[in-house]
Amino acid sequence: MKLKDQVAIVTGGARGNGFAIAKALASEGCNVVLGDICQDIATVPYPMSTQADLDAAASAIGALGVKTLAVRCDVRSDAEVKALVAETLKTFGKIDIAVANAGVTSLIPVVDMDEATWDDTLDTHLKGTFLLARHAVRPMIDAHAGKFVAISSVGGQRGFGMGSHYCAAKHGILGFVKSLAMEVADHNVNVNAVCPGTVWTPMMQGLAAHFGMEQEEAKEQFCEGHLFKDREITPEDVAQAVLWLCLPESRCVTGNLITVDSGWTAAAG
Ligand SMILES: NC(=O)c1ccc[n+]([C@@H]2O[C@H](COP(=O)([O-])OP(=O)(O)OC[C@H]3O[C@@H](n4cnc5c(N)ncnc54)[C@H](O)[C@@H]3O)[C@@H](O)[C@H]2O)c1
Repeated sequence: MKLKDQVAIVTGGARGNGFAIAKALASEGCNVVLGDICQDIATVPYPMSTQADLDAAASAIGALGVKTLAVRCDVRSDAEVKALVAETLKTFGKIDIAVANAGVTSLIPVVDMDEATWDDTLDTHLKGTFLLARHAVRPMIDAHAGKFVAISSVGGQRGFGMGSHYCAAKHGILGFVKSLAMEVADHNVNVNAVCPGTVWTPMMQGLAAHFGMEQEEAKEQFCEGHLFKDREITPEDVAQAVLWLCLPESRCVTGNLITVDSGWTAAAG
């Protein structure tokens, strides 16, 4: 148990990649606080997790033998992220790991995109990452130890037509991670990003359903750039990269990224 009695916050932890990350951390003995919005966002064309999803995720993590907390939190709100961190500190007295994972997506050409869609996407990914760092990294600095991991994407390394808002946010996260790493290295805090390729989570399933696409056909289309044709990237694959960035083994890795994309960006480069 390499993370026994440590404490992690995972945003967007009710399902998909966030839930798998929480499970992976818990499997190493880490207590996990799951934050999730628990209500739909008008500009996102598929449902967000519900309070029941969040509670079920926390129960499943708790069944792994660690302590958990489920906190309704919209990462676009400074007050709500501040409250998430405060509740974590009140319950556990410290934060060792923070994972900025909450995210949304949609596919819209720039000329057709309204301001609210742009704002909701940038605010969830980029501002949400900033707000989690703003509140969760201070206790890490005070403790002279910590790991901050942000979930970017292949969309943080290349463009996607109709994904300008998502790619802008995911590129921005990589710049943020490098800069924050420079600020906190003297305080023994590591800051890194993980960039997944296509993972068939409720996000991608919801997007396919919104466009009336058949799921298997949509998956094939969205995974077309992956080099391994005989395997899917799972949330657990993403979670293992995050887990490694939270372990002592990665102590000399900071301001960097791990790309879990089945070779997609290598072939596109
Ligand atoms: N699925 C993919 O193919 C893929 C690829 C690359 C990167 N990612 C990234 O992985 C992360 C997780 O995505 P996923 O695929 O698991 O999606 P998902 O939709 O399955 O899960 C995202 C979770 O975040 C929550 N959430 C959304 N907006 C929120 C907000 N404002 N505040 C708090 N919680 C919020 C949702 O309720 C949901 O529980 C995202 O940052 C996403 O961009 C996903």
